[in-house]
Order: sequence, then structure tokens, then C-alpha cells
Amino acid sequence: MAEASDRFKAKLDELRRQALEAVGAAGDAAALEEARVRYLGRKGELTGLLRSLGELAEVERPKAGALANQVKADITAALEAASTRLSGGVRAEAIDVSLPGRRNPLGTMHPITRVMEEVIGTFSRLGFEVAEGPEVELDYYNFEALNMPPDHPARDMQDTFYISDRVVMRTHTSPIQVRVMEKRQPPLRIIGPGKAFRCDSDVSHTPMFHQVEGFMVDEGVSMAHLKSILSQFAEQTFGAAPLRFRPSFFPFTEPSAEVDIQCTVCNGAGCRVCKGTGWLEILGAGLIDPEVFRAVGVDPERWSGFAFGMGIERIAMLKYGIDDIRLFYEDDLRFLKQF
Ligand code: DAH
Repeated sequence: MAEASDRFKAKLDELRRQALEAVGAAGDAAALEEARVRYLGRKGELTGLLRSLGELAEVERPKAGALANQVKADITAALEAASTRLSGGVRAEAIDVSLPGRRNPLGTMHPITRVMEEVIGTFSRLGFEVAEGPEVELDYYNFEALNMPPDHPARDMQDTFYISDRVVMRTHTSPIQVRVMEKRQPPLRIIGPGKAFRCDSDVSHTPMFHQVEGFMVDEGVSMAHLKSILSQFAEQTFGAAPLRFRPSFFPFTEPSAEVDIQCTVCNGAGCRVCKGTGWLEILGAGLIDPEVFRAVGVDPERWSGFAFGMGIERIAMLKYGIDDIRLFYEDDLRFLKQF
């Protein structure tokens, strides 16, 4: 029986020798292919030899099989080397220059980022410069300097996340007004984009949201300037949508207004989105309260200014017809890829 296995091994060696010789002698790709078929093909010599494996004793078979695999690997390696040699160093089948490249999937800009940049762009073209402030803010900047002293009832309007007695997550971007005016004297035209935080969550509120604050301080600034600037903003953002100013109250402005645009869904006729009123609230605004000027060291006898603050999610929802704010923060690609 051992004799049979010796014979098998001798035949394998001979097969390898012949195959390597044929591969080495091949002068072109066709000759190489011929050698491959002859020795490794489905009806080739190696296959034929493997059929006689059954004649060996069972204990010999694994070793003989492994040997056959080694011979196959040697011949394959020789074929590949020859193929490289014949094609001038480049394996013909390794590079298919006609194959399209692999695409890297491209992300899209988040709709909130997009609207934010659009709003900033609009105000930049109107001569406003961008200023930012911290998201973790002192009570002083978030409330006190904005004419909301401790225990002021207006603080109840905002569900504040407190870090400590004196430190909060800013509930709006209005503290940016204080921080800028504290450092710089008018004339000023500033736009202050950023995140704001309130303990609130439903179809129109998320605990984190975005606002853009804006203010202009100069000699003789009036509600007329506010109306003009906001009308231009509305036209750029929503097309020719009429604005409506409603009297309102904020501690940091006097007089104060809430500004609505005509409903973009029904054009003012009244529908579900505008709850039948024909109007949609987009921002709060007013003339900066003299108390705020005093807190930052700007002379209210000489300077006046307007200020406004808008919610970016709100603007984006109106612009794109989205009826649930939470969609912005669920990271669902089916939603995000539409923008
Ligand atoms: N800070 C206000 C809020 O978050 C919005 C606001 C109203 C900002 C009137 C202003 C303003 O600058 O003048 O509800």
C-alpha cells in the first residue's frame, strides 16, 4: 500500500515538473491558457490524478491530498507570474481601466444648517455681521441684563435648564446682544445664530433648537427700519409673503411685536396649518429697551435700536411644509435626503 502512495507522489512530482516547464516555455497568453487547461483544467491532468486518490489506503489519503493541493498552488503561482511577465509587468486582468470608479456616498447638508446659512446669508447682504456666544450661559446674560431680574415673572415663560444657581443652558440667543454691546459701542448691525435650550418637547418643541438673533443700533433707528429689514428677509426666504406686526411683550424690548407671515400653505385663506387664521408666527421683535442699553453702558438718550429673534426650525418647517419638528432630530436618512 505504501508503494501506491509513493507512486502517487512520484506522479505528482512529475506533473509539477512538466507543468512548470510548459508554463515557462509559453510565449504568449494563448499558450499559457493552453498549459492551464492541460494541467489544472476540469478535465486536466491534475484532476485525472486526483481520481486515483481512491486507490490509496485511507490513512494515506489526507497527506496525498495535501500534496496535490500544494502542487496546484505551485502551478497557479507560476501561471500568475508568467501572466505578469507576458503582459509587461501589469497583470492584464488585475486592472480594468474601463470599470467605473467606486463612489463615495456623499452626505447632504442638514435642513436646519441649510436654512441657518440661508438666513445668515440674507442678513449678511443687508450689512449685518455674525457674532456668537456660549451655549452654557450666565444667568446674568440670559436674564438679568435683558431686564429679567431674579423672580421676574417673565422668567416663567421659559422652561430653563439650570446648571447651577448662576449658570443656565441659554434659553434664547438674546444674550448675544448683551455680550456684543458690552464690548462695542454703536453703530452695530449684528446677526447672532446658535442653539438654544428649553425643557419642552412636543410636535413643535425640542429641548434643543436653533435661533437667529438680530439687532441694529444707531442714531434714529425706529420700528420703520425693523419693518423694512424684516420685509426684505421674508421676501428672500419665502417669496412675496406679506408680514403682519402684532403688539406683544418682551422684557428686553419696548414696544414689542410678534411678527407673522401670511400662511404659505393657503395664502391667507385659512387652513389646518395656520389654524384657520391665515397667519403664521415667525419671530419676536421690538425696539431695544432702555434698561438693556443701561446694563451694557450704551447711552439710550443718544442711541436706539431694534432687535428680533426667530426660531430656525419654525422657519424650516414653513419653508419645506414639515409638520413635526422632531423629524429634524431623528436622523432618518429617508427624511434628510430630501433636502
Ligand atoms: N428671545 C425671544 C425668545 O426666545 C425672542 C425675541 C423676541 C428676541 C424679541 C428678540 C426680541 O431680540 O426683540 O422668545
